[in-house]
Amino acid sequence: MTRPSIKIDADAFLSTYWQQSPQLMRQAFDPKQLISGDELAGLSMEPEVESRLIKRLPETDEWLLRHGPFSEEDFADLGPENWTLLVQAVDHWIPEVRALLSAFSFLPQWRIDDIMVSFATKGGGVGPHFDQYDVFLLQVEGTREWKTGQLCDENSELDDQLPVKILTDFAEQDSWVMAPGDILYLPPAFAHWGTALSDSLTLSVGFRAPAHSDLISDFGHFLASKVSDFNRYSDPKIANRSSAAHEILPEDIARLQAVLHEYADNGALLTNWFGQYMTQPKYGDQAVDTGDWAFDEFLTHWRANPIYRNASSRLAFTGAVLFVDGQAMVTDLSPDQLNSLCDNDCFNYAANTETESSVQKVLWTLINLGAVFFEG
Ligand code: SIN
Ligand code: CO
Repeated sequence: MTRPSIKIDADAFLSTYWQQSPQLMRQAFDPKQLISGDELAGLSMEPEVESRLIKRLPETDEWLLRHGPFSEEDFADLGPENWTLLVQAVDHWIPEVRALLSAFSFLPQWRIDDIMVSFATKGGGVGPHFDQYDVFLLQVEGTREWKTGQLCDENSELDDQLPVKILTDFAEQDSWVMAPGDILYLPPAFAHWGTALSDSLTLSVGFRAPAHSDLISDFGHFLASKVSDFNRYSDPKIANRSSAAHEILPEDIARLQAVLHEYADNGALLTNWFGQYMTQPKYGDQAVDTGDWAFDEFLTHWRANPIYRNASSRLAFTGAVLFVDGQAMVTDLSPDQLNSLCDNDCFNYAANTETESSVQKVLWTLINLGAVFFEG
C-alpha cells in the first residue's frame, strides 16, 4: 500500500497553528478508497468496536444517544436525516485508514490516540461541543458545514439534560463548507459544530492529551512500585518548634518540595515512566494472543511468512529502549533501527537475515507480547 500524504507546510503549521488556532486546509489529501459508509456500519456491529449513534429530533431539539454494537434493524429504524454514526479507533481495523497516520509524522506519533470515523446523514452531527484534545477533521465523502466558536474552559456550560455534551452557548467565529479532500485542524477546547449537508463521511485524527492530574497520579503509581518505603520524609537537625508546635512551616514544605524534585528532576526515571504511560493500549482488554514462540521456531516460520504489526499495538522509543503497549524493553538497536521498527507494518525475513541479529530478537519478543503476528 502506498503511504498517503497530506499537503501541509509542516513547519509553518507547527509555528502558527498547532495548539494555537484552527486552520482549514483545502484539498489537502486524497479522500478516495479509504472507507465507505457500509464498511463503517459493518464495523459498528462488531462487539469489540466502540461505536455510538446520535440522532437529533429537530421538532423538540432532543438528542438521542445509543452505544453499539448495532444491528441491521437499528439502522433501518433511523430514517433518512439528522443522525450520525461514530466509530472509534477505525485505524485498528481498516489498513487504508491506518495508513493515514504516517501522513502526520511531523508530530510525535505517540501523541496520536486514534482515528474516529463518522457517517452522518443530512442534518446529522454531534452538535456544538468542544474536545480536550487536538483534532484533524478530514472530509472523505459528501459535504459538511463546520462552524468554529469560542475557546472553552471549565466554566463553559454544558446542557446537563442531554445525553451528549452540548454547549449551551456557541459564539460563532467562522464557518466553512468542507468537501472531500479538505482538512480542518482544531486545537483543544475550541468550540466546534459540524452539520452534514448531505450523506457525509468524516475522519477525526485525535490526539492524546492526558490531564495533569492523570499524569501525576500515574507517575505516583509508577513510583510506588519503584521506590523503597525506606525512602521517607525526614527532617534532621530541625529547629525547636515548641513556640508553635502545631504549625506547618515553609521550611517543612521546602523539605517536601525537595522530595518531589528528586523524582521530577530525574530525567531517566521520567522517560522510563512516560514511554510506558503513552504506549498504553487504547483498549487494554483487547490483547491479541499471538502464541508462545521459541526463537528457532519463530525464525523458521518467519522465513516463509511475513510478520505484521498489530494495528492496536502502540510503540515508541527513547535511546535504545523500546516501549511496547505500556512496557519497556532494553534493546541494542540504534535510534534509526528503532524508528523504522515503530514505523513499519510488515517485516520480511529477507530484509533481516543477519543471524541472531538484534532486530530478529526484538521482533521475537514483540510476537510473544502480541505486538506483531503471523497472518493465518
Ligand atoms: C464528527 O465527526 O461528527 C465529530 C467530530 C468532532 O467534532 O470532533
Ligand atoms: Co469534536
